[in-house]
Amino acid sequence: MHATGLAIIAIIIQFNLKRTKKDTMTQDELKQAVGQAAVDYIKPHLEDDSIIGVGTGSTANCFIDALAEIKHTFDGAVASSDATAERLKGHGITVYDLNEAGTLEFYIDGADETNDHLQLIKGGGAALTREKIVAACSKQFVCIADDSKWVNILGTFPLPVEVIPMARSYVAREIVALGGDPVYRQGVLTDNGNVILDVHNMKIESATALEERLNAIVGVVTNGLFACRPADVLLMGTSEGVKTVKAK
Ligand code: 5RP
Repeated sequence: MHATGLAIIAIIIQFNLKRTKKDTMTQDELKQAVGQAAVDYIKPHLEDDSIIGVGTGSTANCFIDALAEIKHTFDGAVASSDATAERLKGHGITVYDLNEAGTLEFYIDGADETNDHLQLIKGGGAALTREKIVAACSKQFVCIADDSKWVNILGTFPLPVEVIPMARSYVAREIVALGGDPVYRQGVLTDNGNVILDVHNMKIESATALEERLNAIVGVVTNGLFACRPADVLLMGTSEGVKTVKAK
């Protein structure tokens, strides 16, 4: 065959190999991609005195690792869990108490599920209460997630509810009355010393109404619906690259 013909075939093969690699990106690679994308997203807005709110979980960990590369461009972070605080400190990033930090420009965190309104289910890592508090104190909530977290209707992932230990059975009965099947997350205590009930089979027609209803049960600290304060932007990892999604 002519040399030019062979070169063209080689280019086509190379292109297809690249495509195959892209198409088969693992979930970990997608998490790393969105972690880096979040750093790129906030970087132009960071100043010497900026303090960043940081979430919890394996996707948030990817963000922390990428953030460490630019740690000299901002002041520090507020952590949504003890585990996140440890990881930040391990990278030499200063961790502030939220009460000292005041209002934050950005909160970056993962999710267990997101819909197109960027209403979320969170709390798979049991850090939901601190996550919700830091998100509430932030001007912009940037959610980072791979596309396996995208759903049409929230609720396939069991909804975590943080509960004061002595109220566990009472809260469980109240949740059953609302139509859910609460399951006690055995052996897990939150950073706040509370327990988690994971609610299965809950019909989530209005995420904001259910978030408020569950929070009104005496003994509930908070629940994992982030609907009253949804994310502002989602950086979603897909095999075609990271997509920026704004709430519908
Ligand atoms: C922890 C969370 C996490 O953001 C959520 O569970 C997603 O975790 P991961 O990034 O490991 O999939 O809400 O409480």
